[in-house]
Amino acid sequence: MKILEGKKGIIFGALDPNSIAWKVAEQCHANGATFTLTNAPIALRLGTINQLAETTNSKVIGCDVTLSADMENLLKESMEVLGGKVDFILHSVGMSLNIRKGKVYTDLDYEMMKKTFDISAMSFHRLLQTAWKMDAINDWGSVVALTYIAAQRVFPDYSEMADTKALLESFARSFGYHYGKAKKVRINTISQSPTKTTAGTGVKGFGSFFDYADAMSPLGNASAEDCANYCVSLFSDYTKMVTMQNLFHDGGFSFTGISNEVIEQMGQ
Ligand SMILES: NC(=O)c1ccc[n+]([C@@H]2O[C@H](COP(=O)([O-])OP(=O)(O)OC[C@H]3O[C@@H](n4cnc5c(N)ncnc54)[C@H](O)[C@@H]3O)[C@@H](O)[C@H]2O)c1
Repeated sequence: MKILEGKKGIIFGALDPNSIAWKVAEQCHANGATFTLTNAPIALRLGTINQLAETTNSKVIGCDVTLSADMENLLKESMEVLGGKVDFILHSVGMSLNIRKGKVYTDLDYEMMKKTFDISAMSFHRLLQTAWKMDAINDWGSVVALTYIAAQRVFPDYSEMADTKALLESFARSFGYHYGKAKKVRINTISQSPTKTTAGTGVKGFGSFFDYADAMSPLGNASAEDCANYCVSLFSDYTKMVTMQNLFHDGGFSFTGISNEVIEQMGQ
């Protein structure tokens, strides 16, 4: 059964086949959706996204998420290509300049922090506000952004991205209220397990906290493919009344205090 048959969307953030957004695009296509793909102009120059565009029969439209003009153009072109308003949007965008430059949490550069917040969190508000003003999302549409549990619990090397994700989740709640009231559009964040992607592996000590989370979670870490399936369910009509939520998709990690595997590894 194709649960997204007839639905139109926009998918941000497919950089390469490891990207969570890449898997989401493949699953949305397999489930009957049509969509446009978007990424920053610099990412498009790498060219890999064109392979995905071919296999999913989608158009690629460049958009630097920090620029309102790019966002407007993306929504306008997407509606032209898809033949009307969209039903779903995936925001799968994240980047920390301070992490990239190896700056520790107690020595952050504020200009870089502003850019990190702009790319990774304010872009979500910008997307929603632009869509709101252009009336670009159909009634009962669904918007999902990807987040991480460092918004609630401390993971020291996740640094400013933790604060960014807290802001992102707050935007989902606040805008979810307004868009829900006005258009029945639902807005949620998915809090995903550590996943081996370009953004993920850029965090110091990623390998260790990937293994730690896997050992802590009763179901093990959720893969990018599992995340894609969850996104499809949230874009479908089967989750119509779910909005303003931060949804943990982490094999049970968020509610586990300690696991037998971790106790054994500590040699007690
Ligand atoms: N990988 C993980 O462990 C993990 C866990 C939880 C949440 N997430 C979140 O999932 C989302 C997707 O990341 P991913 O892990 O698939 O890595 P990824 O590196 O494949 O994706 C990040 C994307 O952000 C895009 N991007 C960066 N700056 C941009 C800009 N200015 N304009 C437009 N796009 C821009 C990149 O080009 C890239 O496609 C991010 O929000 C990330 O924080 C990842």
